[in-house]
Amino acid sequence: MMLEIKIVADGPFYFKGSFTYIDEQMTCRHMAGESLVFCRCGRTNRAPFCDQSHNSFFFNTHDQLERKYAVSGKLTNQEGGEVVVAAIQNGPMHISGAVSIVDDSGVTWRGTQVKLCRCGLSQIKPFCDGTHKKTNRLNQ
Ligand code: FES
Repeated sequence: MMLEIKIVADGPFYFKGSFTYIDEQMTCRHMAGESLVFCRCGRTNRAPFCDQSHNSFFFNTHDQLERKYAVSGKLTNQEGGEVVVAAIQNGPMHISGAVSIVDDSGVTWRGTQVKLCRCGLSQIKPFCDGTHKKTNRLNQ
C-alpha cells in the first residue's frame, strides 16, 4: 500500500498508510493504516510527533516539492517494495517504498526513496538538504 503524506504549509507531515516505522532507538513497529502527524519544525517536545510547537515561532516552510526529481506517471503500490519509514537519529525521515507527497496547492511528488527534513532548516523543504548536520536543533 502506498504511503500518502500530506504536507501543510508552515506545519507538520500527515502520514497515512501501512508501513514499518523504525524510530531513533531502532525499535520497529508496524503501522496498519493509522494516521500519524510528524513534526517537521524540529522543535517538538514529543519527537518525532507534532506537538504544535510550530505555532510558537515563525516557521515558514516555502515547500518546493517540484524541485526534486520524482518518478513520472503512475506509481504502483508494489513499486519499491515494503514501505519503511526510519527516523534517522538527529537527521531526516528516510522513506523507502512507494510514497506520494502532496502539498496544500495539490502539487504531488511520487517516488520510492526520499529523505524528509525534520529539523525545519532545509532550504528545499520538505526534502532534507543536509543542513541538520550543521545544527543541533534535533539534539535539543
Ligand atoms: S533534517 Fe533538516 S536538513 Fe536534514
